[in-house]
Amino acid sequence: MEKFVINGGKPLTGEVEISGAKNAAVAIIPATLLAEGPCILENLPNISDVTIGFNILRAMGAKIRTINNNTFEIDTTYVTEPVVPYEMAKYMRASYYFLGALLARFNRASVAMPGGCNFGVRPIDQHLKGFNALGADYTIDHGMIDVKAEQGLLGTQIYFDVVSVGATINVLLAAVKAKGLTIIENAAKEPHIVDLANFLNSMGADIMGAGTDVIKVRGVEKLNSTTYGIIPDQIEAGTYMVMAAATKGNVLIKNVIPKHLESITSKLVKMGVTVEEYDDSIRVISHGNLQRTSVKTQPHPGFPTDMQPQITTLLAMAEGTSIVTEGVWDNRFQYVDELRRMGANISVDGKVAVIEGCGALHAAPVKATDLRAGAAMVIAALSAKGTTEIENIHHIERGYGDIVEKLQHLGADIKKVIIPDGAELKQAL
Ligand code: EPU
Repeated sequence: MEKFVINGGKPLTGEVEISGAKNAAVAIIPATLLAEGPCILENLPNISDVTIGFNILRAMGAKIRTINNNTFEIDTTYVTEPVVPYEMAKYMRASYYFLGALLARFNRASVAMPGGCNFGVRPIDQHLKGFNALGADYTIDHGMIDVKAEQGLLGTQIYFDVVSVGATINVLLAAVKAKGLTIIENAAKEPHIVDLANFLNSMGADIMGAGTDVIKVRGVEKLNSTTYGIIPDQIEAGTYMVMAAATKGNVLIKNVIPKHLESITSKLVKMGVTVEEYDDSIRVISHGNLQRTSVKTQPHPGFPTDMQPQITTLLAMAEGTSIVTEGVWDNRFQYVDELRRMGANISVDGKVAVIEGCGALHAAPVKATDLRAGAAMVIAALSAKGTTEIENIHHIERGYGDIVEKLQHLGADIKKVIIPDGAELKQAL
């Protein structure tokens, strides 16, 4: 078992470079299946979700060549079997993007029901509704989702009943080679959707309107090789912003798109944190004395749900009573029990958390209950005086590349240690 051991209470100072966006990468990696020839992807983050995406492609026969730490050439020419088995899909929620990509390439796909962070029911009815509208039938049997378009995919009009990032991406992937025009209404507008559309357009797709709630896709027959650089990760950047604020630090966060961070910036400013914006970097300075505020998470451009545990943790250190309302997921406050061990005073009623700011958190052993909850534990531990050990860090490593090195560079006292588990201990005795 691996843990982070953090000796907190030290201000973070210096510079940190943000990696490529996880949620763009996990969509763009399957999208390489659509190119006739190899694609070069630049600025891929060094995270386990990228490794899982690569492993799925390799298991299907793709060739992946490392060009440097963050640049890879992916050649899917020899993929013949459109199947992603459970052993592969169970590690990553986004493995369902292989459904849309394989359907576009082979007119059929078979993908196991995916794993990933657990914060309530995570239905995929809107993805299936979209495939169906494009002319594909589906069955779900023994944990496998099978989709098939006997007559090929045909462009159509699709109205999503809920705003869904995953359904928008999956239908976009399926529609790029469908015959005719597809109009996706009530589409999600997240930066990673725009990034996927830009990637597909760079291969020769004809997509307009990504980033608005109506996306028009005119199907093309063929998509070509391309070289593409993935956008910076909005949530990794936001997490380092909160880390700087929580530790009374002064950090220049580089390789960001400040526009994507506006909803986070505005809450931090309201809390009394100084945020200076530059072209592609942002400086966060805090002297402590954080003020209360209220936050409601919403689809983009609202405050991102993937920053909810991090901002709740910061509010737990502020003065006064704050309210955080989760507007996307049913059950995304499971980590609050862990924060309470560190002295946070938070009560949760359904999708609403009431936070009585306690000024400072204290060190305690905790665990990461999912990816962003894990990021919240790191924030709490960095701010708290004393030594905090965080278990289940595999969740954190799914989405935060080189986090130990980046934080050490900012002056944090953090290390990753390997603790022998029960079986190893028994052997050692
Ligand atoms: N929903 C449905 N039916 C569907 C799909 C979604 O009812 O067919 C509902 C969900 O239950 C939820 C809401 O719609 O209440 C939004 O879900 P969405 O489909 O947008 O989420 P997702 O695509 O499964 C992505 C990110 C999540 C992020 C959400 C919301 C990826 C790989 N994952 O998930 O990111 O929380 O959008 O922004 O892009 C993370 O990075 O930590 C993470 C969990």
